[in-house]
Amino acid sequence: MTAVLLVTGATGTVGQHVVAALADRDVAVRSGVRDPETASTELADAGDVVKFDFAKPETWGDALADVDGVFLMRPPAVSEADVNSFVDAADRVGVNHVVYLSTLGAEKNVIIPHHRIEKHIMGTDITYTLLRASFFMQNLLEVHRADIVEHDELFVPAGSGKTSFIDARDISEAAAVVLIEPDHANRAYDLTGPEALDYGAVATTFSEVLGRSITYPNPSLLAFSRRMYQRGTPLGFIALLCGIYTTARLGLAARVTEDSYLLLGRSPRTVRAFIEDHADAFRGDSRPDRTLP
Ligand SMILES: NC(=O)c1ccc[n+]([C@@H]2O[C@H](COP(=O)([O-])OP(=O)(O)OC[C@H]3O[C@@H](n4cnc5c(N)ncnc54)[C@H](OP(=O)(O)O)[C@@H]3O)[C@@H](O)[C@H]2O)c1
Repeated sequence: MTAVLLVTGATGTVGQHVVAALADRDVAVRSGVRDPETASTELADAGDVVKFDFAKPETWGDALADVDGVFLMRPPAVSEADVNSFVDAADRVGVNHVVYLSTLGAEKNVIIPHHRIEKHIMGTDITYTLLRASFFMQNLLEVHRADIVEHDELFVPAGSGKTSFIDARDISEAAAVVLIEPDHANRAYDLTGPEALDYGAVATTFSEVLGRSITYPNPSLLAFSRRMYQRGTPLGFIALLCGIYTTARLGLAARVTEDSYLLLGRSPRTVRAFIEDHADAFRGDSRPDRTLP
């Protein structure tokens, strides 16, 4: 029987690249998705595609059959209790290794679900690797593209705080490394990009790459919330973003570590490289593509 690696969130920003990175390494991959039919057509190299839903335990048995390792992420709308129950199920069927996508600082921040999910995983018999990731560069594309395309503005309420942005593609590659190599048992890695930038510097980089002026108006939390609300963004998501940008405003998102370099064996991608890779989407020439290069 071939051991299989299960990827949860396989259609998501990080998961889709974890699947691709594992497929590149000739590993048996299983993509756990809520809609297998759509995912099979949209995901390149999705491997074995099975129905999987954190909220539907009846889908867990098939997803976990013969699984040796799991890439585990918590979709923002899924309860921590459902994630923890799934971890317990994985433990019961003998899964050896869970790689959990967490967030930078989760070990100290007791109010966020990642903190408690990490602890829950550590309390099982499963070997774990925690990937505590900084702020994804992909948020610039998936959340803030409209401000850049329509208003020539980077409209986030982060003050002059710096952020150690990381490209989700680098997180995915690091996840593939720790899933496959044997040396990462019961360890945590703080995954950041190579530098911490404030949003003024990010706007300058946008201007240089796109060849037109992109400004950072440094909006208040209220002005930001109002614009997002007018765009139809759900209130819960606006509140989540305000929390994240307040963290950056307070200077708590600026830590740069060597861990990405350690796992990737190269420097992680810069913000400039990310903008260059997606320049067409930021110019408004194409829709943001979930299947990024
Ligand atoms: N964004 C950041 O800057 C950042 C930084 C650090 C950590 N994180 C953490 O990263 C995680 C998000 O990762 P991501 O951005 O790759 O995800 P994402 O792009 O938001 O995608 C969510 C994924 O979850 C799947 N999903 C949704 N509901 C599900 C359910 N009930 N059962 C099973 N799968 C379900 C979705 O699949 P379908 O909809 O196709 O079914 C999709 O694949 C969060 O835990 C977040 O806290 C984010």
